[in-house]
Amino acid sequence: MKWLVIIVLLQLLEKIKCEQSYEVTNERLEPFEGDSQTLVLFDGLKTIGRERALNGSFKFLGEMNNDDFKVSVELYSSPNGDGEFKRMVMDVPQTSICECFKKFYVQFVQPSLKTGETTNFPVVDDDFCPVPEGEFYVKNVILNTQDWPSQVPRGIVKAIITFFSGGKNVGGLIVEVKIEDRQS
Ligand SMILES: *[C@@H]1O[C@H](CO)[C@@H](O)[C@H](O)[C@H]1NC(C)=O
Repeated sequence: MKWLVIIVLLQLLEKIKCEQSYEVTNERLEPFEGDSQTLVLFDGLKTIGRERALNGSFKFLGEMNNDDFKVSVELYSSPNGDGEFKRMVMDVPQTSICECFKKFYVQFVQPSLKTGETTNFPVVDDDFCPVPEGEFYVKNVILNTQDWPSQVPRGIVKAIITFFSGGKNVGGLIVEVKIEDRQS
């Protein structure tokens, strides 16, 4: 009983510190072009320094409204980090672009950014739509995983993020991150 209380308290402390039991590092960023046209450009993004911070800029060539534009995310996991990838069950099928930003950008990316400081991309809130046209910078950004799920597979996780307009692939980005148990 005493132990149970201690374990629960430790878990609470972990939550208060907003720390996950894992660490995430950017491993690879690879932009890809669309089938006949490319409307989203991620080739200005790099990982820099020992901490592999995200730095550079990305471009949206036009405003992207919720009716024409969709995004899909395919997820693959390589538990041993050896390049053998298996499809994960948590894929995001083609979803209207604004919903996608409100659900996934807000949970996975936005906590790492500070609009006006580390990015000029606008804050995504409930009224966010359409996705604006423009060139947006990100300055030396380290991933903040406070809002990520507590259960994520260890090893390499690859996300293939594809943008669609009128059902056609208009470009995207492949992101690979390394997920390890936190050393502490
Ligand atoms: C970070 O990105 C900015 C803006 O694109 C660029 O000017 C700067 O040189 C980049 N820093 C490094 C270390 O690559």
